[in-house]
Amino acid sequence: MLLEGQGINALNHLTIGGCDSLELCEKYGTPLYVIDENVVREHCRLYKKSIDEFYNGNGLVFFASKALCNLEMIRVVNSEGLGADSVSAGELYTVLKAGMDSEKICIHGNNKTDEELEYAIKNRVGRIVIDDVSEIKKVDKIAKANNIRQKVLFRIKPGIDAHTHEFIMTGQIDCKFGFALETGEAEEAICKALEYDNIIVAGVHCHIGSQIFESEPFKEAAKVLVNFMADIKDKTGYEMFELNLGGGFGVTYTEKDDPIKFNKYIEEVSAIIKEECAKRNLVLPFVMMEPGRSIVGTAGVTLYKAGAIKDIPGIRCYVSVDGGMTDNPRYILYQAEYTALVANKAGDEKTEVVTLAGKCCESGDLLGENMPIQKVESGDIIAVLTTGAYNYSMASNYNRVPRPAMVMVKNGESRVIVKRETFEDLVRNDI
Ligand code: LLP
Repeated sequence: MLLEGQGINALNHLTIGGCDSLELCEKYGTPLYVIDENVVREHCRLYKKSIDEFYNGNGLVFFASKALCNLEMIRVVNSEGLGADSVSAGELYTVLKAGMDSEKICIHGNNKTDEELEYAIKNRVGRIVIDDVSEIKKVDKIAKANNIRQKVLFRIKPGIDAHTHEFIMTGQIDCKFGFALETGEAEEAICKALEYDNIIVAGVHCHIGSQIFESEPFKEAAKVLVNFMADIKDKTGYEMFELNLGGGFGVTYTEKDDPIKFNKYIEEVSAIIKEECAKRNLVLPFVMMEPGRSIVGTAGVTLYKAGAIKDIPGIRCYVSVDGGMTDNPRYILYQAEYTALVANKAGDEKTEVVTLAGKCCESGDLLGENMPIQKVESGDIIAVLTTGAYNYSMASNYNRVPRPAMVMVKNGESRVIVKRETFEDLVRNDI
């Protein structure tokens, strides 16, 4: 299985964005994160085009920067006209530094610190998503001190069961994020916020989870939220005018994955929003989405060098690479499955089944088990696909392993967008 922008050249090497993966390793070393710029841009364009086509362009797509947050990545999505969502001051700092217009930034977090709220409001971010009742007063106070009226959305738990890993399921009542509908707390919070002068209650937000393959839970969530907006209007006379449906669209990690195309999702959800608004006599809200994984996931590949190979008869074959849980903790966290191949034998048949292990001092440090792959020899380059989202952004320095470099490739050209960490970087903050 190969993904968009990938191919096999005459040398039987994997190519990414027109670049020979072996040449990339020679030039930049391993492990190496590779991001295909054209794939990222195509995904951004498809989102934008779908909103134009199915919702008259009455919306904005925010890249969920937690998926991959560095200056060049943000510059790319910014140049495609997307906004960005940030869930910490660090993400906000990066997004601002990359030149994003603060009006196109949306702030999240279930426990934003006072400093984070102040930083965001002072920088005139477009929207803050209120996640807890205690934030209402704080936002109003900081907005007043800065002489502005701050637009806010309310994060709602629509009570939807999205079929995904429980750690990344966020729409149900037992969840640390947002306000539940069933208990009346969402309504109470909104009514309370309407009393404050320096807050503009723009609308509601939900994010039901991540790596979701069906469109049904998204449609259901949109329906629930529109009806909630209508209920608030009936009760208070106040009509909210913005609807943020979060992210969560699944992507292909292995052949088993069959994600819905997000333009199809946008078509279906737009129809639901229009239908429900007509039924309840609401003006069509400005719609927002916050995809992360589906923008950058499949655009990324990690290249490793194979080292020790331990074939334990009757048990399994361990192929160890020069990275692991430090650059990709998703197997150890979620048992996430990946596709691997030997980049220097890319066109060969996959005749082996191996466990891909990292180099950390931890038995659980694996990148995958039962992975079909070509015959591997020590020194081969192993490519793991779909590592663009939540890999670099979740990387660590466990065992004092420096984080790999990241290169962006495009039409056969490559450039470093994040430098490889040095040992000096590792001790930079040590006293
Ligand atoms: N909006 C909000 C409020 C979110 O919490 C998230 C993801 C997104 C948007 C973007 O979701 P996406 O389109 O990327 O699915 N570390 C996990 C994923 C955690 C997602 C957290 N929130 C993983 O590696 O699978």
